[in-house]
Amino acid sequence: MSSLVESALEALSGPALVLDDQLKIVTATPAAVELLGVDVPIGVAAVRVLCGSGPKRPVAEALAAGQAVQTVVAHPGREKRRIGVRTIPIGPVRARTGWVLLLEELPEIDSDGAVLFHGMWTQDAGMKEMFRVIEKVARSDTTVLVRGETGAGKELVAQAIHALSRRAKGPFVAINCAALPAALLESELFGHARGAFTGAVRDVQGHVELASGGTLFLDEVAELPLEVQAKLLRVLETRTVLPVGARKPVPIDVRFVSATHRALRREVEAGRFRGDLMYRLRVIPIFLPPLRARPGDVALLAQQLLREARQRGDTEIAQISPEALRMLEAHDWPGNVRELRNALAYAFALATGSVLLPSDLPPEIRTRSGEEMPPEPPRTFTRQSDDPEAEKILRALERAGGSRERAAKSLGMSRVTLWRRMRDLGLKPGRPR
Ligand SMILES: Nc1ncnc2c1ncn2[C@@H]1O[C@H](COP(=O)(O)OP(=O)(O)OP(=O)(O)O)[C@@H](O)[C@H]1O
Ligand SMILES: [Mg+2]
Repeated sequence: MSSLVESALEALSGPALVLDDQLKIVTATPAAVELLGVDVPIGVAAVRVLCGSGPKRPVAEALAAGQAVQTVVAHPGREKRRIGVRTIPIGPVRARTGWVLLLEELPEIDSDGAVLFHGMWTQDAGMKEMFRVIEKVARSDTTVLVRGETGAGKELVAQAIHALSRRAKGPFVAINCAALPAALLESELFGHARGAFTGAVRDVQGHVELASGGTLFLDEVAELPLEVQAKLLRVLETRTVLPVGARKPVPIDVRFVSATHRALRREVEAGRFRGDLMYRLRVIPIFLPPLRARPGDVALLAQQLLREARQRGDTEIAQISPEALRMLEAHDWPGNVRELRNALAYAFALATGSVLLPSDLPPEIRTRSGEEMPPEPPRTFTRQSDDPEAEKILRALERAGGSRERAAKSLGMSRVTLWRRMRDLGLKPGRPR
């Protein structure tokens, strides 16, 4: 083939191989040569180059069956790399005159670099550094505050701290401070004495006491009502707890780990959180980066979650197509690992073929990616705050086409909470649609 035709092919589709009807390589574009990194042997069967020695030979099978396929194969020269392959038959079914194989370089999965730490997969250097911090702080009883976006794994971090501590055999008790109104939260946390209020027919231990000998995880600690904050501060200072309606404080032996998606300092500045309590809770601050800030983790997690789903027998999918992987990597994951898990569970359950294609992904991920991204919808809210949370809410509203109900759902909060946060952040309805 003339080099002009090769260049034309490359201009159209990048790295590509052309095979004859015997599946022998006729030509390779310069980009294909570079991608394969080996001398592409002209005249040799393509399967020798692209199928490796693994038990699964998707390209060989597709070519033998005369079918178009889209798949992922191991790089022939470099172990950790993979290549996306799309086979395009030339000519009618019974009289194939040849094939075009479109190749694509996929992001590297460094399986040596990937680690699993107490349920958390990562290959990100910042995350690994955080694991080392966790290992160190776990040994002492120091109070830890984990900050990270929703779904980023704050609870896993808290559980890891517990599991690595000398309290591992004791209980791990979690309480969500955003879930209950002040009065109920107080009695949930600190317990109550018999007769403390109508219906209090017996003494009830609170979560602080229930965590005795173990770890108490205060989730969404920034949402603690101010009056409960005062009481929690006293618990931390005196290492005793006074159940509602009780006379005598009870000594406690508890390690406190809290988590929030907010910057506590800002909450203190805004008068919503006590500064003295912040210093007590944040002796060791741990920052958990959002998924979008850990390049490589999306692909790694997707592959790991696929492997787990296959082991459970939850999916027929064997591979994730390069396009689908690229879409996953282009998404900004406001709901972090939880959102990725849900998106993949959706795709694993609904996909019909053995390769996960972009069309199998949930619509909100499909529409956000790469070239297929629709024009930015006009903003319907104006803001007076550059709080990162404001940005998150605006993005969720945009994605939901301005529907607060759907935006609230995607953010994992109630409509009322969303409304309240928008008010607090100064997000005002702008141009109506
Ligand atoms: N690095 C990771 N590897 C594998 N799974 C993870 C990882 N990080 C989080 N997950 C999973 O993602 C989900 C969300 O994690 P988790 O509940 O710890 O997040 P969170 O930060 O506490 O969220 P929220 O703010 O909504 O409470 C869980 O199913 C968890 O197992
Ligand atoms: Mg949580």
